[in-house]
Amino acid sequence: MTNAETAQTAQTVTLNDGHEIPQLGLGVWELSPEDAYASTRAAISAGARHIDTAAAYGNETDVGRAIADAIAEGEVTRDDLYVTTKLWNADQAPGKAAGAIDTSLANLGLDHVDLWLIHWPVPSYGRYVEAWRALIEAREAGKTTSIGVSNFYPEVLDEIIDATGVVPAVNQIELHPGLSQQAQRADDAKRGIVTEAWSPLGRGLLDHPVVTAVADEVGASAAQVIVRWHLQQGIVVFPRSSKAERVKENLAVDGFELSDEQIDRITALDDDEAAAGRVGADPREASFGVPEE
Ligand SMILES: NC(=O)c1ccc[n+]([C@@H]2O[C@H](COP(=O)([O-])OP(=O)(O)OC[C@H]3O[C@@H](n4cnc5c(N)ncnc54)[C@H](OP(=O)(O)O)[C@@H]3O)[C@@H](O)[C@H]2O)c1
Repeated sequence: MTNAETAQTAQTVTLNDGHEIPQLGLGVWELSPEDAYASTRAAISAGARHIDTAAAYGNETDVGRAIADAIAEGEVTRDDLYVTTKLWNADQAPGKAAGAIDTSLANLGLDHVDLWLIHWPVPSYGRYVEAWRALIEAREAGKTTSIGVSNFYPEVLDEIIDATGVVPAVNQIELHPGLSQQAQRADDAKRGIVTEAWSPLGRGLLDHPVVTAVADEVGASAAQVIVRWHLQQGIVVFPRSSKAERVKENLAVDGFELSDEQIDRITALDDDEAAAGRVGADPREASFGVPEE
């Protein structure tokens, strides 16, 4: 099969440490234990090889069970899969990060993850440089293959890179057509950091007339159009659904492409009243999850 014919779920992006990350996968934020198990299992059966979880999601154990079952049933091997988890803000407290990766690995039932991220910088707490050193140590100990950050912006990226000389492999940020993050994506790219999208389907986008018009033009669903908007711009993306049919739908994005004009029309939703703006917290202000001192 030529690269162009390879299923999207098998397409990878090369990170700055030389490792490959599957560009399309499944996210499991807010999924109950039962749904996290069922969606992870359905995603792997539908060809997904990349699962994005976090200690804070409370479902690492269920993701781990789904992975173990898929391996036991002969569908995949551990090496076929790419598993990300994240250091929760409370575990940026001095001395806690090393134990946090061990807890995540025990929950997942894995001896290493493929990618470990700092979940939020929490600038008011001021521990992200220490946390970054802990991630570097975890990588050196073989507990994670790659390390990266989430919700980082230029000033905090400068600080962790200046302090350690180690550039994160990825930066996972809120990113969708209503918040297309041109400046942060350019900053990440300049540093050799791959940008990942969280909340990739945004808010008010799936029934927005611009998106549904493009969906009609290409003969795909609105969600599939938005997934392709990410993929064709080189963004790593892992939409979440609690429903097996939608998990499959979001991964079934082979067989059509958006034109540059269609991508531009969707990107213009950055200025659309119904769709524009953040779904989640502003990382410069987010201060949740850290211990009281
Ligand atoms: N690093 C961070 O701070 C951070 C923050 C947020 C998210 N994330 C990661 O990013 C992943 C994705 O973001 P997200 O979970 O916020 O949101 P999302 O994937 O953008 O959207 C999920 C929502 O869209 C619905 N949906 C999914 N597929 C659909 C389809 N084909 N048609 C119609 N509706 C559909 C889901 O409902 P149903 O379940 O009913 O289908 C759910 O309500 C997360 O799961 C997590 O892994 C990271």
